[in-house]
Amino acid sequence: MLSYFEPTLKNLKLGKKFTILLLIVFALGVIFSGVALATALNRNAQNEITSKALMLIGTMNSVRHYTNTQVKPELTDKLQTEFLPQVVPAYSAREVFESLRTDKAFSDFFYKEATLNPTNLRDRADDFETGIVNRFISETNLKELRGFRSLPGGDFFYIARPLTVSDSSCLECHSTPDVAPKSMIERYGTANGFGWKLNQIIAAQIISVPANSVFKSIRQSFLLIMGIVAGIFAAAILMVNFWLKRYVIRPLNRMAQVVEAVSMGDTDADFERASNDEVGILAEAFTRMKTSLAMAMKMLDKRSGRRSIDSSQ
Ligand code: HEC
Repeated sequence: MLSYFEPTLKNLKLGKKFTILLLIVFALGVIFSGVALATALNRNAQNEITSKALMLIGTMNSVRHYTNTQVKPELTDKLQTEFLPQVVPAYSAREVFESLRTDKAFSDFFYKEATLNPTNLRDRADDFETGIVNRFISETNLKELRGFRSLPGGDFFYIARPLTVSDSSCLECHSTPDVAPKSMIERYGTANGFGWKLNQIIAAQIISVPANSVFKSIRQSFLLIMGIVAGIFAAAILMVNFWLKRYVIRPLNRMAQVVEAVSMGDTDADFERASNDEVGILAEAFTRMKTSLAMAMKMLDKRSGRRSIDSSQ
């Protein structure tokens, strides 16, 4: 590929050649480091929100478990006279999460036990969630779904897990209204949340974590780091150009002028050695050559002078 550009490169001045070379390195550097950085930042952000979601869904399951094993047995007797939703795992999980959401850091997080036929209508699955529940129903091996979802409040990362009627005790309240506690019927009616079967998947437990802020912050980090990389490359190109001009191009131009002058017979023109690098060595070599040339000329002059005297005698 380089040979293709060689004729063009040959006609370019040194400064331009270096600038082109550096620009190519710059472009490749920015592309490769940009892709690598974006991949790494994205993976980090992905891991960060995933671990947040996993922690929260784990916590909610602990709340459900606690309610089921420690709260409900204590209050079962009371249910005959008065219904206490506090004994319901779904209710306590939801309430605990709502209380967490009063903290500003979590106000954009959502927890829902999206159900096709819910007891409390606030748990009804919307179209998107219904799709998730149906997938869990049709693909029984599927234990978790993860993905992004756009809502009016922004983009959310969600983790969804199937909720199964895991215990026959669930059927006390979710099979038919006649076996459910009366107090519960009074509160929730008989229309919703019944007809569930043992081991049936009835809902998806979905936790949604806001992704916008995370992706905004990785965009900012990306721009900042790429800005610094671009700045360093631009500074390198400027410095190389500056040094090249000062220590190579200008002295070479000056030398070329002196060579020109000497070749025209100006013996007073001098090569100055301004540095101790290769250019300085070249200047010194030229000075020596000029001196030898001058001596050779003098000798030639003398000889031809003598010859002319000889011939005149
Ligand atoms: C004492 C009665 C009772 C028992 C036992 C019970 N639930 Fe419920 N369940 C309810 C009530 C009442 C609600 C509505 C709570 C609310 O207002 O949020 C509910 C809500 C739910 C929800 C949320 C969706 C909806 O219907 O609103 C799920 C999921 C759920 N229950 C699953 C279960 C499972 C699984 C079990 C067994 C481990 C179980 N329930 C046992 C009474 C019960």
